[in-house]
Amino acid sequence: MKAIYPGSFDPITNGHLDIIERAAVFCDELIVAVLENTEKRCCFTAEERIEMIKESVQKLNNIRIISFNGLVVDLARREKANSLIRGMRDIGDFRFEWEAAQLNKIGGVETLFLMTNPNYAFISSSRIREIARFGGNVAHWVPESVYKRLQIFSRRSS
Ligand code: PNS
Repeated sequence: MKAIYPGSFDPITNGHLDIIERAAVFCDELIVAVLENTEKRCCFTAEERIEMIKESVQKLNNIRIISFNGLVVDLARREKANSLIRGMRDIGDFRFEWEAAQLNKIGGVETLFLMTNPNYAFISSSRIREIARFGGNVAHWVPESVYKRLQIFSRRSS
């Protein structure tokens, strides 16, 4: 099974990492696909986001990390991937994910959802960026390499 885990990953959090580790168990290849030109204003460049993911998944050997633009269904077709992986934190995520999954299904790609680990269900990349910007401690919520970069980001923003 070849699946794609798409997202903004600005930056990758331990919640994302947990989904990658769990999906990697049942995928032959898992492609982590970083949306380059997202409508959200990113704090990190696509290259930086990819670098942080690479540093965080070193111990896994069936992960490929790429960037993409455009529709995720077109990416899935290009990569010959049969499904998408998404994490679901709570009911708040459901509306967006339900719509996206239905549209992507019409486009020919299934979405498989993994419930977010409850330890990380209340964190998001945007919350992490906010806490880091004001000098708060995010060490519990992000991989080591992200933590280091966020410290630099926090110094730049203050
Ligand atoms: O990490 P995010 O920001 O929640 O990820 C959202 C993402 C990148 C998965 C979604 O916006 C996406 O797939 N964008 C690509 C454009 C697309 O295919 N849109 C239709 C389905 S939402």
